Amino acid sequence: MSRLYDEYVKTYKLSPENSDGFHSVVGDLLETEEVNSMKEFEQHLEIDRLQHVLGVAYLSYKICKRLGWDYSSAARAGIMHDLVYYDWRDGETGGWHRLHGYKHPRLASMNARELCSDLNETEYDAIISHMWPLTLRLPKHKVGYVIIFADKYCATRELMYSLNKKYKKRFLSDVEGI
Ligand SMILES: [Fe+2]
Ligand SMILES: [Fe+2]
Repeated sequence: MSRLYDEYVKTYKLSPENSDGFHSVVGDLLETEEVNSMKEFEQHLEIDRLQHVLGVAYLSYKICKRLGWDYSSAARAGIMHDLVYYDWRDGETGGWHRLHGYKHPRLASMNARELCSDLNETEYDAIISHMWPLTLRLPKHKVGYVIIFADKYCATRELMYSLNKKYKKRFLSDVEGI
């Protein structure tokens, strides 16, 4: 197993005791109703939005920590990068949900600002540019590139989990083995 995959597997069993300090930088966010409400929404088929953002946040945190970059902003931006309170598959949102891919980075950055009065520029930048290249906005800070990479990595794993029975079985046994 690759090291990145090993870290990804851990995101399914994260606790303050095994998270290498991750909880000390995002603990306040994880206690909020807003962040917890993401559990209610499907993100990638069988994987809910809260699990998805935890994966993105933890991988971004670990990568930035390893590189000596701003790991705190990486973890916090990861938690809030998809902070929207609707299911984009829901037809009742009136049609504009089809544009979710383009619109949600701005919505999430607005919700993050509302949730977090001390949201910093690096976090804001990473959230609003995380859908590159779908949206053309490139990040201004290195952390933003890490979030883009982690988001796509997690999305791919989550779709594999949902669509490939063999992969799912192996993945669940890897999670069990932690
Ligand atoms: Fe997103
Ligand atoms: Fe995402």
